[in-house]
Amino acid sequence: MMKDILQQLEERRETARLGGGQKRIDSQHGRGKLTARERVELLLDEDSFEEYDMFKTHRCTDFDMQNNKPAGDGVIVGWGTINGRMVYVFSQDFTVLGGSVSATHAQKICKIMDMAMQNGAPVIGINDSGGARIQEGVDSLAGYGEVFERNIMASGVVPQISLIMGPCAGGAVYSPAMTDFIFMVKDSSYMFVTGPDVVKTVTNEHVTAEELGGASTHTKKSSVADGAFENDVEAIAEVRRLVDFLPLNNREKPPVRPFFDEPDRIEDSLDTLIPENPNTPYDMKELITKLADEGDFYEIQQDFAGNIVTGFIRMEGQTVGVVANQPMVLAGVLDIDSARKAARFVRFCDAFEIPILTLVDVPGFLPGTKQEYDGVIKHGAKLLFAYGEATVPKVTVITRKAYGGAYVVMASKHLRADVNYAWPTSEIAVMGAKGATEILYRSELGDEEKIAKRTQDYEDAFANPFVAAERGFIDEVIQPRSTRKRVARAFAMLRNKKQTMPWKKHDNIPL
Ligand code: HXC
Repeated sequence: MMKDILQQLEERRETARLGGGQKRIDSQHGRGKLTARERVELLLDEDSFEEYDMFKTHRCTDFDMQNNKPAGDGVIVGWGTINGRMVYVFSQDFTVLGGSVSATHAQKICKIMDMAMQNGAPVIGINDSGGARIQEGVDSLAGYGEVFERNIMASGVVPQISLIMGPCAGGAVYSPAMTDFIFMVKDSSYMFVTGPDVVKTVTNEHVTAEELGGASTHTKKSSVADGAFENDVEAIAEVRRLVDFLPLNNREKPPVRPFFDEPDRIEDSLDTLIPENPNTPYDMKELITKLADEGDFYEIQQDFAGNIVTGFIRMEGQTVGVVANQPMVLAGVLDIDSARKAARFVRFCDAFEIPILTLVDVPGFLPGTKQEYDGVIKHGAKLLFAYGEATVPKVTVITRKAYGGAYVVMASKHLRADVNYAWPTSEIAVMGAKGATEILYRSELGDEEKIAKRTQDYEDAFANPFVAAERGFIDEVIQPRSTRKRVARAFAMLRNKKQTMPWKKHDNIPL
C-alpha cells in the first residue's frame, strides 16, 4: 500500500516532467532548441536543482480549459547552484500550451522572485513563450503585471538575467527589458512589441521576425540585448561564466576567486602600445586583457557602440567592471550610443558594489546634426551622471587623449574618482593642438609657418599629462608597463571605501 503511494508520486513526477509530451519535445528539438528542463539542468550544477510547484495547475474553466490542465502549467521554477553559488531559476516550457502565461504560471515565477529577494540570490529567467494565455484574458495580464512589479523591486537588489530562447512578444518583452542582462540565441529567439503582421498592416513594412527582433537586431541595432549566441548550450554556458563575476545581492561583495597571475606583473609591451602618430588607432582590448588576471575579459554588448568597451575582468581575484574608449572604432569618440551603453554598465556596477576601472583615450563628443537632434546632450549626460553618482571604488587611467567635456565625463577626479593615473603619452586639454591653434590664432591662418610653430608650442606646453598632474587632477604619471601593478594596488587600497550620498528619495538621471 505504502509502496503504491510512493510509486504514484514517481508516476506523477514522470508525467509532469514530460511537459507537453514526446511529440512536442521532438518538435522543440527539431528546431534546434532544448526543452525547458534540459536548459535548467545545463544551467545549474549537476543534481543541484530543487523544483517547486511541479504539480501546480491553472484554474481556468473558459474554453473548456478544465479538461486541459497540464501539471506545472508551462513553467519550471526553483533554485540551484552555479559553481556552488545559489541562484533562482524559471524556465518557460513551450511544449505546454506554448509556454503561455496564465495567472498560475505567473504566480510560480513570482514565488521564486520573492524568495530570491528575501534570501538574496540572482534570478535567471529562461523565456520561451507565446505570451499571455489567450484563454485566461485579463487574469494573464494581471499575472504579467505582478511579475513586472517584482522585476522593478528586485532591480539593484539581486542581479536579474534573462535568456531569450524562443518567442517573446508583446508586453511580455517588458519583463526581460527590466532585468540587468539579456542574452539571445541566434535564429531561434525574437523579441518585439508588435510582430511582423501588425507592422505590415500599420506601417506597410515587410519584415521577418528575425529581422524585426532577432538576436542580431537586438545586439547590433537596438542594444536591447547584451549578447547573441549560436545555440542554447553556448548561451547557457556564458550565463554561468557571467554569474561567476557577480555578487549574489547588493549587500554582498562580488566573489573572490583564486588567481594564478602576479598582481605586480610588468608588461613591457605596454610601453609601445601607443603609436607615434596620435591619430593612429590601437586596440584598447589589448590593454584590458593585459591588465586582467589570466587575460580573462568578459565583454558586455560587444556588438553595439564599439567605440566604447564594457565588461568584467578580475584583479587579484576580485571582479572589476571596465569601461574603455576604443580608438579602433570612430577614434573612440563619445556619442549617444556609447554614452548610453557605458552609463547603464556603470550603474549596474555601482548598484552591485563592483569597482570600476576606466581606460581613457577620447577625442571628444561626435559632432553633427544627427547627434544633436537625437539628444546627445541628454544621453551624454547619462554617462556623466552615472560616473558622478557612483560610490564604488573608481580608478582611471588615461592612455592618450582626454579632451574637453569627454575628459571630465570619463571618470575624472572632478567626479569623485579615487585614483587617476595618466601615461606619459597622455594629452589632457580642451582640444587637440591643431584645433586649438586654429581658434586662438585665426588671424594667422594664412601663414603656414607661423601656424606650425604655434601648433608645436601648444603641443609642447599642453599636450601632456603634466599640466593636470601639477594641479592634482592626475594623482601620478605612471609607466605603461607597470599599470597592472598600480591599478591592482589602487583597488586594494580602496577595498573598504565608504562614500555617502545626500538624502534623497531618488535622483533624476536624464533618462
Ligand atoms: C494560449 C498558446 C499561445 C497563447 C501559443 N499557444 N501561444 N496558447 N495562449 N498565447 C499554443 C498553441 O495553441 C499551440 O498549442 C502551442 O502553443 C504551440 O503553438 P504553435 O502556434 O503551434 O507554435 P508555433 O507555430 O511555433 O508558433 C508560436 C507562436 C504562435 C508564434 C508563439 O503560437 C503565436 O503567435 N501565438 C500567439 C501569440 C500571441 O498573440 N500572444 C499574445 C501576445 S500579447 P497546441 O495545443 O496546438 O500545441 C501578450 C501580452 C502580454 O503576450 C501582456 C503583458 C502586459
